[in-house]
Amino acid sequence: MPFSRRRFLESAFAASTLAFARASRARTRVATPPASALDPGTLKPFVDALPIPAVSKAVGTRVLESAGATPLPYHRIEMRPFEARVHRDLGPAEFWGYDGTFPGPILEAKSGAGFLVEWVNRLPATHFLTLDRNLHGAESQFPEVRTVVHAHGAKAPPESDGYPEAWFVPGESALYHYPNAQDAATLWYHDHALGITRLNVYAGLLGAFLVRDDVEAALNLPSGEHEIPLILCDRFFEKSGRLSYTVETQANPWTPELFGNAILVNGKLFPYLDVRARRYRFRVINASNARFYHLAFDNALAFHQIGSDQGLLPAPVSLKILSLAPGERADLVVDFASRGGESFVLKSDNYTVMQFRVARGVEHDTSAMPALLRPIERMPESAAIRTRTLTLDEVDDMVGNPVTMLLNQSHWCAPITEEPVQDTVEIWNLVNLTEDAHPIHLHLVRFQILDRRRFDVSAYQMRKTLRYTGRAIAPEAGEAGWKDTVRADPGMVTRIIVKFSGWPGRYVWHCHILEHEDNEMMRPYNVLPAA
Ligand code: C2O
Ligand code: CU
Ligand code: CU
Repeated sequence: MPFSRRRFLESAFAASTLAFARASRARTRVATPPASALDPGTLKPFVDALPIPAVSKAVGTRVLESAGATPLPYHRIEMRPFEARVHRDLGPAEFWGYDGTFPGPILEAKSGAGFLVEWVNRLPATHFLTLDRNLHGAESQFPEVRTVVHAHGAKAPPESDGYPEAWFVPGESALYHYPNAQDAATLWYHDHALGITRLNVYAGLLGAFLVRDDVEAALNLPSGEHEIPLILCDRFFEKSGRLSYTVETQANPWTPELFGNAILVNGKLFPYLDVRARRYRFRVINASNARFYHLAFDNALAFHQIGSDQGLLPAPVSLKILSLAPGERADLVVDFASRGGESFVLKSDNYTVMQFRVARGVEHDTSAMPALLRPIERMPESAAIRTRTLTLDEVDDMVGNPVTMLLNQSHWCAPITEEPVQDTVEIWNLVNLTEDAHPIHLHLVRFQILDRRRFDVSAYQMRKTLRYTGRAIAPEAGEAGWKDTVRADPGMVTRIIVKFSGWPGRYVWHCHILEHEDNEMMRPYNVLPAA
């Protein structure tokens, strides 16, 4: 039942170690899939090898005035339509991809070594997915096909950040500067055009962006062919193999969350990966519009999480199940040494994700799994000069179906209210008044999670008083490092502490469920220049 909203609530929490009160009102939104819809269960699994995206290469150097006088390596990445089969036994589907691939090429950066990317829109003038012209920014006066690229987790100047209104149309391009002055981390890039992000990303406009540095290199982690990105996203297909974004009604085609029944890894359905009996490093990216993953091997093999959104954790965390909200990333080390000759499956809840086939024989493994990775100083609460209390809101119609999602009761175009001063520290209290978990992402910055705490939702709604009803719960070990996206659980206040270092200018913060983001759950914010 991939369409069920109830299932969403369940899957968001099933694997959590935290105790949540169940939603008081269990909404069940079951849209019936059309007869032409593909049931992936009818396909033979594990017949396609896992594709590994190519690494983007600079095609020269260029000077960008705002980036200084020195020429910088220059990449040119075109967005193009193309056809691909997500499974051996399916017909080809149209996708839109960076460099005509889905996922796009991997951008690889060395910390401190900036580069330029020219993002070129060579897409057709009409979209192949159904737009909702009622959504702000997607009204009929705007062109159907608009793109703007955001490097998620990259510390980039405002004019290179991919502001949702800075979109450009087919035939146009934008030259962006990525200084890469940040720690090694698993970042990713994707489309961010106002009101149609969910459709552009769904069409295939996403890719990985890896920043490397010397601290990481000194750890001797598995590398080269033993370091593999796993970019996860779920989709629907027709039996013909065509990609479909299922909408409930053509008159009002916004859907509150898209949960596809086909989970793709690096653009393939049910792929397999041949591995040797040794350690591997996997960069896992949740690039889904709305799906939360709970990844586990069906043979209960344990693995280590060594990093989260913004880089290495202080120490590896041993896990049997990894939870990942939309937009979040995890850096994993899996040791197959004791599993020579075995085949097993990576699952998420009841979904089959992919298969691992371990070669027989022991492999001489020169990589390391260090006990300590990168020290992370906890930011003291006393460093904050300001605390903001910000609500996450759902606006329902008379029968309880969501019509809009808001941040702090404000629409995208309302006057800007979050204006932190450059280089200062703030605490943001994310007060979730809805029944769903929302992954909240801030552009430009990295932050730490302070805690999550249950509160009295109705008291807040009636009197705006924050009354806690539980004790503060520390972040889980795998989210105790640097983050840029945080799961704000329902009925909880999630507190983060953020230093706004970077550049003054306009950025955004938003929910990373792309259907929510496209329907008002996104706000601009300004970094004000330091006095
Ligand atoms: Cu991953 Cu504002 O986005
Ligand atoms: Cu981002
Ligand atoms: Cu949301």
